[in-house]
Amino acid sequence: MRKKLIAANWKMYKTPPDAHAYIAAFLPLVRDHQRDDIVLCPTFVCIPTVVEALRDSRIGAGGQDVSWEKEGPYTGEVSAHMLRSVGCSHVIIGHSERRQLFGETDDAVNRKLKMSLKAGLQPIVCVGEVLEEREAGLTEDVLRRQCGIAFRDISGLEAAPLIVAYEPVWAIGTGKTATPEMAADAHSVIRAEAARAFGDQVAETLRILYGGSVKPENAAALMSQPEIDGALVGGASLDPHSFARIVKY
Ligand code: PGA
Repeated sequence: MRKKLIAANWKMYKTPPDAHAYIAAFLPLVRDHQRDDIVLCPTFVCIPTVVEALRDSRIGAGGQDVSWEKEGPYTGEVSAHMLRSVGCSHVIIGHSERRQLFGETDDAVNRKLKMSLKAGLQPIVCVGEVLEEREAGLTEDVLRRQCGIAFRDISGLEAAPLIVAYEPVWAIGTGKTATPEMAADAHSVIRAEAARAFGDQVAETLRILYGGSVKPENAAALMSQPEIDGALVGGASLDPHSFARIVKY
C-alpha cells in the first residue's frame, strides 16, 4: 500500500511573512494527521522561513525548480545541494509552467532529475498533455515520451525516491479536472514506463500524484482511486483552510 503524498505548489505567491502566517494557521489544522505525507513547495526566498516554521512537524518543504549543475557561473540558478542545505526534502521538476513559459525540455528534466537524486532530494517530476494533444488522441504518446526521456540513464536503485505527478495541462488552474478514469489510465501508462526503465519493483512502489484543479470538493473522489497516490495542488493550496480540507479529504 503506497502512502499518499499531498503537496502544495505555491508557485510565485507569498512573501516570507505570508508564509509564516500560513503555517501558523495550517499546523493546528493538520497536527494529528498521520494518514498522508504533506509537503509545501514555496518560492526559493520563502524556503528558510517555511523550513523553520515546520521544524517540529512531520511536514516537508520542497523547491519548485532546480539547476542541473552542481555549482558555477549560472546566474539565477539554485542547485540541488543548496536546496538540501536549507532543509528541503523534495523538489518539483518539469512543471508544465516551466515547460511552456520557460522553455524547459524533456532533456533538461532528465538532467535536473539526475542531479536531484544525487543530492538526496525526493523529486516530483511533472508530466502531462496539453488539450490539443488529448483531443488528437496523443496523451499516451506524450506521457511515454516525457517519462522515457526523464527516466533515461537512471538505475532502479537511484530511482527509489522518485515521485511523478500527472498534471494534464488543460486542467491546471482552469477548474477542469480529469475524470478519475482519465487519471487512472494516464497513471497506468506512467507506471508501465517506470517498470520499463527501473524494473517492476520500483514501479510498484512509485507514487504517482494527480494535479490540476484539485479542490476540497473533488479531493475525496480523486484520492479514492487506488491508482492515484496523492495530489499536487496549486491554487487551492494557497489558503491554509482549503489545503487542510484537501489533506483531510
Ligand atoms: P492548480 O495547479 O491546482 O491550480 O490547477 C496545479 C499545479 O500547477 O501543480
